Amino acid sequence: MNILVIGSGGREHAIIRKLNESPKTEKIWCAPGNGGIAADAECVGIGAMDIEGVVKFAKENPVDMVFVAPDDPLAAGMVDALEKEGIRAFGPRANAAVIESSKVFSKNLMKKYGIPTAAYEVFSDPAAAVQYIENEGKFPVVVKADGLALGKGVIIAEDLDAAKAAVHDIMEDKVFGASGNNVVVEEFLTGPEVSVLAFTDGKSLQPMISSKDHKRALDGDKGLNTGGMGTISPNPYYTDEIAKECMETIFMPTVRAMQAEGRPFKGCLYFGLMLTPNGPKVIEYNARFGDPETQVVLPRLVTDFVDVIDAVIDEKLDTLNIEWSDDACACVVMASGGYPQSYPKGLEITGLDAGGQAEGVTVYHAGSKLTDGKLVTNGGRVLGVTAKAATLDEALEKAYKAVETIHFDGVHYRRDIGRTK
Ligand code: AMP
Ligand code: GLY
Repeated sequence: MNILVIGSGGREHAIIRKLNESPKTEKIWCAPGNGGIAADAECVGIGAMDIEGVVKFAKENPVDMVFVAPDDPLAAGMVDALEKEGIRAFGPRANAAVIESSKVFSKNLMKKYGIPTAAYEVFSDPAAAVQYIENEGKFPVVVKADGLALGKGVIIAEDLDAAKAAVHDIMEDKVFGASGNNVVVEEFLTGPEVSVLAFTDGKSLQPMISSKDHKRALDGDKGLNTGGMGTISPNPYYTDEIAKECMETIFMPTVRAMQAEGRPFKGCLYFGLMLTPNGPKVIEYNARFGDPETQVVLPRLVTDFVDVIDAVIDEKLDTLNIEWSDDACACVVMASGGYPQSYPKGLEITGLDAGGQAEGVTVYHAGSKLTDGKLVTNGGRVLGVTAKAATLDEALEKAYKAVETIHFDGVHYRRDIGRTK
């Protein structure tokens, strides 16, 4: 099988390394890829949002399947465009990817089908949003931009002034662009967060093993929200009992709801859950693999990844028994100083071998570039240093030991991955 993977982050690197383990994989291209991915796939200079370019490449080369990993091209209909040309693609069509790209859609879906989530109201008028928040008078309150905002479109406002500022920033100053035409005002929930990625073919669903992301930039869950500073798998809070409850009250109801709406979801459906005192509730859906959740989940997949992908595309997921290893996995993200705000690029990365790897771990490259044969930084999140071991403590120890041997100027990483609630 010759596979074209779309994207350029640590998630795509993890997908590619897992695909490379399959005896069925012959060749992998990545569009556009990055400096570290180049050691594991042939990078081609096509942007992840260049739908026409991707379709053209897939038609002109012996591509058997295109794996669309990021949210933007899924929302923009890349899978639809490929299928129209008879090209096999992994990922939801645009009409199903909307479960991530519109929070208004996903909240209304959950309300209609009785899927547990935070109570909410939707507003297209900022004054009405503020009036509602004032009348409710419950703080903190959560204000979310409707559309895609790189995981940053969520503001937890501690008081009325902060809530007013959030509504103003999102709806009037449009700090997240057109994503802020509508806002969702939501009840603040508490409890441990769990990420569950699941394979679904539109009819049946198989959850992957659980994981936990660390979204804040600084130790102790302080600082700004980021795309994710590190992950562990399994998630210690996600018991078998909770998993069973989620399957019955959240996962299958979501698959059936999307089917009933005429938007069958095929691909990887990501459930961002909060284990509240009133049971598990959905914080958000993503229409794709999580980043950096993928980096700790896929290394534990024992079943041939190509077989799983085929079962999803061919709608035969119920015939496959997917196996996972009992090992634990930990990923520590090494980020550029300043991320998630502005940061420099082009700084030399030292401590990696010629393949961009380090001893005892797998280094998933998120934002690196090869310049004159040297690896340099090229993004906010630069590397995801990932270790697998019999226990979480051992995996964390191995990951942090390797992190200490890798360097670039201004490097920032959290020292408490796997140690916080
Ligand atoms: P989202 O992009 O919707 O996943 O939100 C980003 C982060 O904001 C989540 O991972 C939570 O930590 C937090 N968050 C979102 N919605 C709520 C809520 N209703 N209550 C408490 N925290 C929330
Ligand atoms: N790590 C969170 C996400 O992929 O959205």
